[in-house]
Amino acid sequence: MRIRSKAKAVFTAAIFCTATGLLGAQQKPADKSQPWMNPHLSPERRAELVLQQMTLDEKIAMLHGEGMAASKNLPPEMQAVHGLFNGGAGLVITPQRLGIPLIQMSDAAYGVRDSAMNGRYSTALPSNLASAASWDPEAACSYGGLIGRELRAQGYNMTLGGGVDLTREPRNGRTFEYMGEDPVLAGTLVGNRIRCEGAEHVISDIKHYAMNDQESGRVNVDVHIGERAMRESDLLAFQIGVKTGHPDAVMCSYNGVNGDYACENRYLLTDVLKKEWNFPGFVVSDWGGTHSTEKASAAGLDNEEEGNDFYGAALKSAVQAGRVPMAEFDEHVRRILWAEFASGVVDNPAKKSVVDVQGGFDISRHIAEQSSVLLRNQQNLLPLDKAKVQSIAVIGFHADTGMISGGGSAQVDAPGDTSGGAWHREVWFPTSPLGALKAKAPGAKFSFASGENIAEAVAQAKSAEVAVVFAWQWESEGMDLPNLSLPEKQDKLIAAVAAANPHTIVVLETGTAVTMPWLDQTGAVLEAWYAGSKGADAVANLLFGDVNPSGKLPMTFPRSEADLPHPTVIQPPAGSKNGVLSFKVDYNEGLKVGYKWYDAEHKQVLFPFGFGLSYTSFSYSGLTVSPDGSSVSFTVANTGQRAGSEVAEVYASLPDSAGEPPKRLIGWQKVELAAGENKTVHLAINPTYLSIWDEATKKFVRPSGSYRVMVGGSSAELPLTTEISVK
Ligand code: BGC
Repeated sequence: MRIRSKAKAVFTAAIFCTATGLLGAQQKPADKSQPWMNPHLSPERRAELVLQQMTLDEKIAMLHGEGMAASKNLPPEMQAVHGLFNGGAGLVITPQRLGIPLIQMSDAAYGVRDSAMNGRYSTALPSNLASAASWDPEAACSYGGLIGRELRAQGYNMTLGGGVDLTREPRNGRTFEYMGEDPVLAGTLVGNRIRCEGAEHVISDIKHYAMNDQESGRVNVDVHIGERAMRESDLLAFQIGVKTGHPDAVMCSYNGVNGDYACENRYLLTDVLKKEWNFPGFVVSDWGGTHSTEKASAAGLDNEEEGNDFYGAALKSAVQAGRVPMAEFDEHVRRILWAEFASGVVDNPAKKSVVDVQGGFDISRHIAEQSSVLLRNQQNLLPLDKAKVQSIAVIGFHADTGMISGGGSAQVDAPGDTSGGAWHREVWFPTSPLGALKAKAPGAKFSFASGENIAEAVAQAKSAEVAVVFAWQWESEGMDLPNLSLPEKQDKLIAAVAAANPHTIVVLETGTAVTMPWLDQTGAVLEAWYAGSKGADAVANLLFGDVNPSGKLPMTFPRSEADLPHPTVIQPPAGSKNGVLSFKVDYNEGLKVGYKWYDAEHKQVLFPFGFGLSYTSFSYSGLTVSPDGSSVSFTVANTGQRAGSEVAEVYASLPDSAGEPPKRLIGWQKVELAAGENKTVHLAINPTYLSIWDEATKKFVRPSGSYRVMVGGSSAELPLTTEISVK
């Protein structure tokens, strides 16, 4: 494995503890006869009963974290607290004397983090962006379910996953952790992931609320955006995610939004999340994202992570002096207790057990197969014929041994990589593309070149019937990409290989869009994203046609950075410190995120949102839309020779008076069809998806006038169209 290490930039430093005095009492086992242990009572009632028993210190302890467990160099008096850590990103000390389990948190974006270094194992799923490319709520559900089970098996009872910041800035280093550029797709899929993760009895989470759309200067950036634009884009994704997934916790983000840090932003936390959306759980700050005591408390922040700068002694004195009202303070505690009861972690505490490794492999591979997107396939170069193909040159960095994964707090440890919680270094998972391809075509001759020596790669490509180039682009939290080009001369490598062999297939392992100056020279391109523990097997199944590709892009691939709303990622001024909003980013493209931007600005793209090829072909017919737009029906037929699945997409144009971009996604269905088969799809359309945010009445409203409903296989190819008129 190639290693490029950088220290974790922020917030891994100290272990905090205000709870030393509580520890003795906490070791007592739960008394099941206590009234709040009755599972027939509502979580609200049970939380209230516990709250009545708690001391001030116990309440304070529940409102902050104890520092990151990974920190070493503990002072001796902290050893007792450290003994309670399960080794994840956070610990909250709860009144165990009352039967309330400690909250043991682990990052879990695409799998449980920090496993190997704790002597454990977890499955790496394909990246979150990949799972969005499946367009499949069931795949999102199995994604969440697997993570929930593996968290519990490792002794965790709270997940820090569920990222759904919109891909407004595709160079954002966390694009792989999110669900793409459309709020309806992203919100629906993250909601299904959270729903099924929570069903495994872990405290579930959605993050980073809100507008954390770039990593550059994330702790100093003040995002400026209009209310309507925010409600119809990033906040709509969260709204759908909260409504669909019922997360127990919401993580507020590092950045500021319209003048206030997100974690002390009353509009976001109280007005929208808690009041309008009726979110019953607790708000947890991102690690080091709390900046005040009274202001944050009044705004609706319930739990400070990772330490206790503002919600430890400072909160205690604020409560004692009446600067934080008791009712407001109790409400923070009540919400955390509610989450413990509602998630089931009180009645079903996490128990360490053996992770089902094979089960994880199967789910991970299946999702990778569902989410890879076939972008190009000239003259049906793919699928390769196992019996006929004579020789294959496999080219690419680590393509003999592994596939790349996403970094930062999302990083899942590769099995056996005990070097200690990778933060900023490239990690390849041991899933061998060369091995997986060889296993498919044992009769063919294989060669391998890493691509570092372009002449060597070209020579091998020339002497083989087919060349498969595995190209990568690494992303991580805490950085943005300088541009959307493949790094390290890979564009040159691919162009040279493709010039040498017209049967060149490019497999992309990327966390976001990439530009492809070599595209026209290639035979085929498959976007495999960060493909997870069994990525190579999935790619081999797809290239040889054992699985028919069915993924569709959850984000636009632009032709160049010049076409983005912001030509460069805006950087913080030198010397910016956490705690001060030192620069402004004006997201003046507003609700025109992704395809809405390119459509409105009439910009050609490399590959449009919703695009993806199959080894079969589909046709669409018979569109009918109910007069109020609440239901849509149409027929999809498989007109080719192979079974396949088609993501059938439904878009709408709103009346001109609405002042909206040309179209928006309002629904879709993934339809599985045998060769020659057809199916009629009936979709109920959520009225919000046909609405606009009205700043005057603070509601989504349906403008009256003429709506165009369009159906097809990509945002740029919509063969069925009809109009309805809404009064
Ligand atoms: C990230 C969060 C993560 C937390 C704990 C922060 O740096 O932004 O997503 O959950 O660290 O590791």
